[in-house]
Amino acid sequence: MYGKDMETLKKENMNLSDKIYIFDTTLRDGEQTPGVALTADEKIQIAQKLDKLGVDKLEAGFPASSKGEVESARKIKELDLNTTVVGLARSVKSDIDAVLDANLDYIHTFIGTSPLHRDYKLKMSKEDIINKSVEAVEYARDHDLTVEFSAEDATRTERDFLVDIFSGVINAGVSFIDVPDTVGVLTPIVTRELITDLKNEFKTPLSVHFHNDFGLATANTLTAIECGANQAHVTVNGMGERTGNTSLEELVVALKVAYGIDLDIDTTRLYSLSDLIGRLTGVKMPVNKPIVGANAFAHESGIHVHGILNNSSTYEPISPELVGHSRKIILGKHTGANALKSKLKEYHIDLNDEQFQNVFDQIKTLGDKGKCITDDDLKAIAVTELGSAREKAIKLVGLGLLSGAVVSPTATVKLEIDGVIKETSHTGVGPVDAAINAIRELIQDTMDIELEEYNLEAITGGTDALAEVFVISSDSEGNKSTGRAINDDIVMASVLAVLDSINKLLLIKRSHNFQ
Ligand code: KIV
Ligand code: ZN
Repeated sequence: MYGKDMETLKKENMNLSDKIYIFDTTLRDGEQTPGVALTADEKIQIAQKLDKLGVDKLEAGFPASSKGEVESARKIKELDLNTTVVGLARSVKSDIDAVLDANLDYIHTFIGTSPLHRDYKLKMSKEDIINKSVEAVEYARDHDLTVEFSAEDATRTERDFLVDIFSGVINAGVSFIDVPDTVGVLTPIVTRELITDLKNEFKTPLSVHFHNDFGLATANTLTAIECGANQAHVTVNGMGERTGNTSLEELVVALKVAYGIDLDIDTTRLYSLSDLIGRLTGVKMPVNKPIVGANAFAHESGIHVHGILNNSSTYEPISPELVGHSRKIILGKHTGANALKSKLKEYHIDLNDEQFQNVFDQIKTLGDKGKCITDDDLKAIAVTELGSAREKAIKLVGLGLLSGAVVSPTATVKLEIDGVIKETSHTGVGPVDAAINAIRELIQDTMDIELEEYNLEAITGGTDALAEVFVISSDSEGNKSTGRAINDDIVMASVLAVLDSINKLLLIKRSHNFQ
């Protein structure tokens, strides 16, 4: 951990609040991610997970926007979670009524305050905007709602007007004032000046709601917290309008690890929650997304893997366990023998020196072709190497393919059968079929085979995934044998798998002949 204790941080020019609230808006701003719409059941599932994670507040939706939003917010409220359930509303009575319909007792009401919003969206004067906001807050307070007020586009609003409108709603009884950086234009230094100024001006707890248009949302939120912000709006995976909001996982982990501020959030749940949101929304995280990306704890280079194997802190700022993620040692062209040995040991795969060298060479060759070898790839390569240790009667010497719009797919296969080289070409419905037809023709004097089963699987995702082919072949005497092979080329994997099964059938046949 790199953080210092709270007292030290405060002495170091930080005006940290004693309690920092996490206001999650995954179900509202997060759902505004283009193309995302969650069902009520999905929202409930997410709300339960957010509650278990330990967020202080969760914005369930925007009830005025549809009947479904009222229903899902009401159902979430009925779960009786520890977290406070919030509903969004514009500063109009009908929106506030929708929040009341959902039975919520905490409202997040907002109005645009910047010149752009005043002149082009609302077409209202400053005075009218203040009056409307105050009326809305009074109406909500009259209905016993706790009110948080956002000055939408606050960061492009004249400072004196921002102070005026916040003063108005504070007098009307809001519990939190919120500063949205609606289009993500803040930088850390401007955030420092703005939040310090507002904290000096108001005693009312201050919240921030930052967007990520310049990739600065987390940095700006941390700066706001350094300057005394009492609450941060966040979303899981940084979901939200356009480039999203401050990411919950980045903020919470940075506060815990880099500042030493523990927020009572169960960080071990972060990865599974991120994964759930990715699956339910269809918005998958980039592999290099901090904290939850697939590569957040993945290591490939021999130097890094060597360090990690000795002490994971050499190349990891936090342990994957802290966020419920897992470490991955990726094998590829940068892999060293140590990493490979440790991986094989982990999977209890025992190879002799020659087999080890063959696996190592295969990994390097695939790496040079630009591939990364995952753990599953490695297991398949190593097991195949183990299985291929026996002497083979039939060996592949060469494979050529021809296909196109005007020619039938044609495969030329060259085999060494009991020491004799044979070659033929054959057509088929596709290149795999053509290659297997050619093999069948070449071995017809030795044996007659039928392909009973053919299974092709990509070991990992992507168009350059390794192909794993599993086959079952039978001979004319009814013997059956499996065969498997892995290759980055589907036809090659298919040919090698078929030959693997034929060699086994031949072993069976020849052992019978000796009986
Ligand atoms: O970004 C924004 O300004 C908002 C408001 C509704 C607070 O999401
Ligand atoms: Zn927003």
